[in-house]
Amino acid sequence: MKNLYRRSKAIVLLFVCAEALAIAPEAEFANGGMVASRSRLASEVGAQILEDGGNAVDAAVAVGFALAVTYPSAGNLGGGGFMVIRMADGTLAANDHRERAPLGATRDMYLDKDGNVVPRLSTHSHLAVGVPGSVAGLLDVLEKYGTKSRREVIAPAIRLAADGFALDRDLSRSFARRLDDFAPYAASMAVFSRNGQPFLQGERFRQPDLAAVLKRISKSGRAGFYEGRTADLLVAEMVRGGGLITHEDLTGYESAWREPIVGRYRGHEIISMPPPSSGGVLVVQMLNMLEAYDIGAMGFSSAEAVHHVIEAERRAYADRAEHLGDPDFFPVPVSTLISKEYARKRFDDFNPDEASRSEDIAPGSAPPESPDTTHASVIDKYGNAVSYTTTLNLSYGSKIVAAGTGVLLNNEMDDFSAKPDTPNFYGLLGREANAIEPGKRMLSSMTPTIVARDGQALLVTGSPGGSTIITTTLQVIMNVIDHGMDLSDAVSSPRFHHQWQPDRVVYEARGLSPDTLDRLRGLGHENFVVMPFGRGIGDANSVMRVDGGFAGMADPRNAGAAAGPHHATRKGLK
Ligand code: GLY
Repeated sequence: MKNLYRRSKAIVLLFVCAEALAIAPEAEFANGGMVASRSRLASEVGAQILEDGGNAVDAAVAVGFALAVTYPSAGNLGGGGFMVIRMADGTLAANDHRERAPLGATRDMYLDKDGNVVPRLSTHSHLAVGVPGSVAGLLDVLEKYGTKSRREVIAPAIRLAADGFALDRDLSRSFARRLDDFAPYAASMAVFSRNGQPFLQGERFRQPDLAAVLKRISKSGRAGFYEGRTADLLVAEMVRGGGLITHEDLTGYESAWREPIVGRYRGHEIISMPPPSSGGVLVVQMLNMLEAYDIGAMGFSSAEAVHHVIEAERRAYADRAEHLGDPDFFPVPVSTLISKEYARKRFDDFNPDEASRSEDIAPGSAPPESPDTTHASVIDKYGNAVSYTTTLNLSYGSKIVAAGTGVLLNNEMDDFSAKPDTPNFYGLLGREANAIEPGKRMLSSMTPTIVARDGQALLVTGSPGGSTIITTTLQVIMNVIDHGMDLSDAVSSPRFHHQWQPDRVVYEARGLSPDTLDRLRGLGHENFVVMPFGRGIGDANSVMRVDGGFAGMADPRNAGAAAGPHHATRKGLK
């Protein structure tokens, strides 16, 4: 009896503890802020900046520079990204540091004389490289919303590049897998192999050239990258390999401040990235279509809920192909696309009992290899939140390191529509809105997003994964809002994806049960593609405000980590 009493007391205590933390055990918890990213070292850099009194913007910028060193397949100086910010006072901002087409780019630059797309030219060549934006963007964001000096936020990245760090299993295997791709480029082999042989797990990985570039940026700001020695080396690489980027392209690069996309969903504010991202528009558009339905009551992963979401995705991605592009070059009808009224009309033909066919879904009329990108989420104890997604496009971008810089160059030009209605690497279609023009930014799916409730940032999320970025972000948001999940479950739960064309549902192994699949087939969904075990959709490193502090969840599909400072406090103790 005594034993039974003791055991039930222990069980009650367990529940009480879980209730008090309000997070599942796998999420990190801290009360001084939180950082989640794909790299443990980068998350720790951000956590240290928060510990030292920096705000979420300082931490996010430090994480951005650190990721270029510790997660080189997507973290970068030679690529681009988007950062969405919500300051504690409610100020919203979106920084667009997406790459731009070089001034020498032309509409048909990836077509042969017969008008066909030349395979790999927009992904594996010096012509694939867009003018990098990350350095300009990170520095602009720091200057406007940060509190720490450039030197302070870049110092950890310099240290990691100069002193090196022990390669873990994840990174050593990633380099080894790519050696054949690096082989044509001596400078890439010099960075990512040891004299042509794969690095071993546990070996120290030093990047002295990259450290030198980071030092120049720390000392001279954007001139340390877009001018002087770094610029000379970048342009020399272009000349050597037949690329287009010139000194004029580099000095002319500016990040852009954009009006964030703001939508409302079941009492929450959804703050996300506007064009040239398609992510924010599509997430809000899909949530608007779904708001009229009680998705929560249908149940997570039920055939009914999955059917509703697929049909919203189908329509939103059809609109993407027609209407989304760089707003500086093409009139993107943003306010229409994210309006409740448009969503109501667009979903008018939705049939709860029958799947549509993508060939019958035209874009709505509105007035005028492995994918790799990476996402980091940051929240600080003051209530500032930053959602940051950055990319080289495919894993390690073009695989070309600009000799003498240690900087990997992106292959973002593939995100343009090389030819109308011809799929890019992700199978995405595009038309006039996303045609190549000199100086234009290519359309992106990156969806850094902040969800706020009651005047406070609640959830910070986003993901890599090319076209699946948008649907991953959508599902994390819906898992929290519709299905009432804690952060750990919201990030971990299986995901699925539909993008209009090709007309098929992609889902994670074990994500849809056999009887759910049967029911979906019964509704008329015909094509299903299951991801192999161990290969997931997205990598949604996210943070969330919880009772007494912050939860951080690195997506368990990959080897990221969450970290945050923890301060002794009596608050919350009973
Ligand atoms: N390169 C992937 C994206 O921006 O969507």
